[in-house]
Amino acid sequence: MNAVFDSAAAPDKDWWRGAVIYQIYPRSFQDSNGDGIGDLKGITARLPHVASLGADAIWISPFFTSPMKDFGYDVSDYTDVDPMFGTIGDFDAVIAEAHRLGIKVMIDLVISHTSDQHAWFVESRSSRINAKSDWYVWSDPKPDGTPPNNWLSIFGGSAWAWDPTRMQYYLHNFLTSQPDLNMHNPHVQEAVLDAVRFWLKRGVDGFRLDTINFYFHDQHLRDNPALAPERRNASTAPAVNPYNFQDHLYDKNQPDNLEFLKRFRAVLDEFPAIAAVGEVGDSQYGLEIAGQYTSGGDKMQMCYAFEFLAPEPLTPTLVADTQKAFQEAAPEGWACWAFSNHDVVRHVSRWGATVADRAAFAKLMAAVLMTQRGSVCIYQGEELGLTEADIAFEDLQDPYGIQFWPEFKGRDGCRTPMVWDSLAKQSGFSAADKTWLPIPVEHSLNAVHVQEGHEDSVLEQYRRFLHFRRTLPALIKGEIAFHTVSETGLVYARSFAGETVLCAFNISAEPLDLPLPDGDWQALEGHGFAGTAEGGKIRLPAWSAWFARG
Ligand code: GLC
Repeated sequence: MNAVFDSAAAPDKDWWRGAVIYQIYPRSFQDSNGDGIGDLKGITARLPHVASLGADAIWISPFFTSPMKDFGYDVSDYTDVDPMFGTIGDFDAVIAEAHRLGIKVMIDLVISHTSDQHAWFVESRSSRINAKSDWYVWSDPKPDGTPPNNWLSIFGGSAWAWDPTRMQYYLHNFLTSQPDLNMHNPHVQEAVLDAVRFWLKRGVDGFRLDTINFYFHDQHLRDNPALAPERRNASTAPAVNPYNFQDHLYDKNQPDNLEFLKRFRAVLDEFPAIAAVGEVGDSQYGLEIAGQYTSGGDKMQMCYAFEFLAPEPLTPTLVADTQKAFQEAAPEGWACWAFSNHDVVRHVSRWGATVADRAAFAKLMAAVLMTQRGSVCIYQGEELGLTEADIAFEDLQDPYGIQFWPEFKGRDGCRTPMVWDSLAKQSGFSAADKTWLPIPVEHSLNAVHVQEGHEDSVLEQYRRFLHFRRTLPALIKGEIAFHTVSETGLVYARSFAGETVLCAFNISAEPLDLPLPDGDWQALEGHGFAGTAEGGKIRLPAWSAWFARG
């Protein structure tokens, strides 16, 4: 059969399983028009960088029309591009260039809430009787005028905001300018699914679904119970946020979502080979919810988990416990892991603050991440080993940081612009005199052009390791089984179609010997780490790894 015809007839529906997805934060990737803010034309220009890494797909954070109160996660038109980022034609060009380079394109759908400037909300809030009066979550106050229940907004304060026209409260899990859509209303479901179809027809290959477990709320508006202090954790909200004091039984995680996700999946399946990854933000039930959403083959293909996005350092025990817990919660499911993104402190700073050799640490972390069972997201700049930027209060943009400053400085420190060329103006990001967030000098010293061609750079190690991974289906789709989980030593096997790849890591600055599991192991090359094995021992220098086939 003709090869071209063959691939057109049978696209790989499973491309997302074990894919490496490169996350682009469009404001900070590349500015093409000199306004100090990144844009779609900039993305197109820089796609060869993504291709040179060997990533399978990009996930582009929101570029839709928005008043930008939450930097695009507050959408006022689901089917258009914000002028700040360009035009719909510019987006078509991103898709065309990505596809030319063999890269899939995933876009970020924010359908739990809209902007308060979305036409739907403007109409909904105009009166209690209008065609969209029930499109958002409205409720009368208690007799004493206070909000209907104790639900909290993640960004601070009550989750209810008062509207003097309707003389009612509306629900917002995030900013007051991000009112929560009422997904219990089938017309709302239809409207958001129409937006999904719109982008599918333009050729996107998949979606990242923002805050997927927030789509439905309890219609009885029951109070969330208090969470015992020992059960609190800061994986999805910083420790200083009282949101962590509640057991979120009623404001999110509602079982009604499962039926909606099936409807959503049916729309995806109208097109060939489309994938979705749902962002499940929950500190108590995250893996359980991920299991529900990715089971049965009729909902999400993947869920994006927060287990490795928390402040707690990445230890061998955390890796093993998380993989085992996911396996139990989601035997048929599939996770998507990340160590960094646009919401958390970059992991080289979050976990490596006291590490002397940050580059070695960054390289090792990349290998741990990319050998997990699951798909993987790499956040722009991670491949350069970038640290968290220190942003002065007067430069802060993120309302979350402004609210909780200085105990929590918000998310600007991981959102500063990409650094391409240390000798160029604004490190090659922009021709503007001022960029929307400042570019730290130490980032500039790690720019792409500085690292490129230097075999021992973090960038070249990412490229090398991604290439190495591509040649080993066990690292992409394999099962995972743990052999050694000690304080700093981690050994696991990934197995697929009769082949096993053993992965051994030393997560410390001291040399480490680990027992070599029984078997006939053939050392693999081309991964860039200096571990060796002899006499039943795996010998690992500081921050190093060893890989073998068996
Ligand atoms: C997600 C996004 C975050 C945004 C929030 C509200 O967690 O990643 O950036 O602020 O949802 O949409």
